[in-house]
Amino acid sequence: MSPEQQEREYLPVHRDPSEVILPPLVGTIIDGRAFRRPAAPGARDEFAVRLAEIYERTARIMHGEVAPLETVEAPVPSAHDEIMALRRRINMDVWRRMVTEWPNGDYRDATMDSLDDEQGVREVRAWLAAPTARTLVLGGDVGRGKTHTAFAALRVLAERGLRVCAVDETRYLAALQPGGSDLLPYKVREAVEQADAVLLDDFGAGRDVNKPVTEFVCKEIGSLLSNRLGTDRFLIVTSNYDPEQLGAMYGPRIISRLAQQAAGVYVKGIDRRPYVLPKTWGGRPATAVG
Ligand SMILES: Nc1ncnc2c1ncn2[C@@H]1O[C@H](COP(=O)(O)OP(=O)(O)OP(=O)(O)O)[C@@H](O)[C@H]1O
Ligand SMILES: [Mg+2]
Repeated sequence: MSPEQQEREYLPVHRDPSEVILPPLVGTIIDGRAFRRPAAPGARDEFAVRLAEIYERTARIMHGEVAPLETVEAPVPSAHDEIMALRRRINMDVWRRMVTEWPNGDYRDATMDSLDDEQGVREVRAWLAAPTARTLVLGGDVGRGKTHTAFAALRVLAERGLRVCAVDETRYLAALQPGGSDLLPYKVREAVEQADAVLLDDFGAGRDVNKPVTEFVCKEIGSLLSNRLGTDRFLIVTSNYDPEQLGAMYGPRIISRLAQQAAGVYVKGIDRRPYVLPKTWGGRPATAVG
């Protein structure tokens, strides 16, 4: 930013006490001096009124007119609202970026309103309204809309201002291998660990149900799950496999961690994936035999 632009962006606050000092979120301190950004029309008046109320109350306390600890009907500080609005905006932007960049499928329209009864919309809504179990497991066959449902639920959590993060198991584990992605493995792990709500998509995908997973998979998935246990952070897991099949692959330790505090929803219905291959292989209509 050029010095002229900076001048326009940050105007020095006058020392005159009658001049209004804006709340901290719209100002900043540089080298011990308070600077403020130009305020939106009306914001200064509102703040001036509030400041006058505080001055008046302080004076009354000092003159012994009211006890300092008397209940004051204080409005919620505007800084809190501003921070929450900012968190909502940032996390919705993160959600939008994730669905736009998600490699397998288009989930930009995934909202709770787009879901139907077969996809367990009522159960998912109930979970979002009172998530006593912090983990939601969405099971079901291929193409039924598990990932779509998961992104719709994650969107609601992002709209609440929660920090959201979505990974699919295969790519997550690949990214934890040296050179597996553009990011350093500890950064990938950190992004998932620090999110308030994580989607772990396609749990168990591409695995052989008769073959136990490797020690590396066990360690990483175990640590992802352990990290969320006993916290109030959310986890949404989608899988084509049922608990027994997952147990056979991942072992009881992982499944017990996944099942603790978990609500399960079975996503039913038809395969909703749009056709990408011609219905008749080779593009020719099937010819009747005989
Ligand atoms: N309610 C819905 N409204 C509109 N599109 C939907 C809906 N549910 C699913 N879809 C679309 O159907 C396709 C398949 O859904 P999705 O990828 O969520 O299935 P899935 O159960 O996760 O499949 P898989 O087991 O292969 O991962 C996607 O393109 C998704 O956007
Ligand atoms: Mg899926």
